[in-house]
Amino acid sequence: MVCKPQSPFPHLLLNNGYIKDQVYHTIRNAILDGRLTENTKIPSTRALAEMMAISRNSVIAGFERLIDEGYLIARKGSGTYVSTTIPYELVTTNPPPDYPKRKMISAPDLSATANRLMPFWEKIKLMSDQYPIFNIGVGCVDQFPHELWGRLIGRVWRHSKKTIGQFNRPDGYPLLKKVLADYVHSTRGVNCREDQIIIVNGTQQAINLAARVLLQPDDKVWLDDPGYDSARAIFTSMGAQIAPIPSDEQGMDIAYGAANHSDARLVYTSPSHQFPLGTTLALSRRLALLDWANQHNAWIFEDDYNSEYRYFSKPIQALQGLDTTHRVIYAGTFSKMLYPGLRIGFLVVPEPLIDVFTMMKYYNDTLSGYLEQVVLAHFIQEGHYARHVRRVRKVCYERQTALFNAINRYLSHVFDVNITDSGIHMVCRLKDGFTEKEIITKCRQLGLGAQPLSRYCIHSFSDKALLFGYAAHTPAEINENIKRLSNLLV
Ligand SMILES: Cc1ncc(COP(=O)(O)O)c(C=O)c1O
Repeated sequence: MVCKPQSPFPHLLLNNGYIKDQVYHTIRNAILDGRLTENTKIPSTRALAEMMAISRNSVIAGFERLIDEGYLIARKGSGTYVSTTIPYELVTTNPPPDYPKRKMISAPDLSATANRLMPFWEKIKLMSDQYPIFNIGVGCVDQFPHELWGRLIGRVWRHSKKTIGQFNRPDGYPLLKKVLADYVHSTRGVNCREDQIIIVNGTQQAINLAARVLLQPDDKVWLDDPGYDSARAIFTSMGAQIAPIPSDEQGMDIAYGAANHSDARLVYTSPSHQFPLGTTLALSRRLALLDWANQHNAWIFEDDYNSEYRYFSKPIQALQGLDTTHRVIYAGTFSKMLYPGLRIGFLVVPEPLIDVFTMMKYYNDTLSGYLEQVVLAHFIQEGHYARHVRRVRKVCYERQTALFNAINRYLSHVFDVNITDSGIHMVCRLKDGFTEKEIITKCRQLGLGAQPLSRYCIHSFSDKALLFGYAAHTPAEINENIKRLSNLLV
């Protein structure tokens, strides 16, 4: 039996972008729904290509896949036929059935960790994608040197034939560890050797590892209030008790913490740029914190996520660099300066913790990806990163200024704003008569992802403010979107 040439194939003519896939899918579907039956002879690849005005190579590629998967068989000297042993049980052309909606698995069926995380997740999963403008936490992603990075990937890949299979270090790619140790020493005053560096998939993993290495259930953790909600979520999920420590213009109030929560085991803080208020932990408080931690055998997790976005003054020396008693675990990330999806960060751990952190990384996800680590190592070593940081600082400061000017021009009746020395979002304090809720509602109508300060507060905070991320938008976009918001707020 020879199949009628026209029947299963006509729509191949319509869309030749994925023509070889379409040859495959069209013939496969025709077989599975019975239009082409067992032993049907398929026209030759040449005839089919002519009939459908597509390249013969596309038809051959589609045929090869169908033969490999057992739908067609090639009989020498005779042609290609529909197989007599179709693997029907393995495939279906029908869409998956509509299962009745099932209820969410309930609390008793879940782990304590999942139950503790759920309230945080409920808030987070509503965010972001629909509100892409003024999102906080996003750096100048449009400045990322795409072409250069692409060239480096190509170069690294061409030389990776042997090394790719040999790389299995949970603590990270050795060259990256080395260049990072040098880099953080010279730019942030971190004192470390390269073996103290552990490459991780961003700060989120760094916090997870630290919690798993250092905390027991019910251990107390100091957290800035307002502070980083993801850190709070992770520590809470491990069963830790959160001790909220107020934060003022000099950063975390160490005296308050020492007086009220001296039994804490860990302090999580971002001293170079307090999240979300953007303050810098004063030197006297840094020394007091180190002193307290040393006396109480507590650990300090220093989240240095944003220190490179600093505009007038030099980055402050990291707490880690002031620490002489090895209490500080330092975390850096490339999410802000390069892009968040890169998922590369690093820990600098005190020597006695190197092995246990490496172990925890191993049992968490074995190791971080090879290619990105090698590319990043070369990117830093060849000086591209330092150049990129300089360029981004300039661009980002222009963007901050654009937001400051736009708010003063269109929304000065709603917000009080200041130019700041660092950061990628602006804390816009609400004037009397406005509530966070009403302004956020207007923002969402326009797709603006600004966040209310209250989202990051554990106890209620006297200031009402909205946080606007400005780093990812050009001055013109910033101006335009603040103008749109002002039109809704007249
Ligand atoms: C306070 C703080 N730390 C760290 C990060 C970076 O996290 P990651 O490196 O996991 O992307 C963020 C991102 O928004 C942050 O707000």
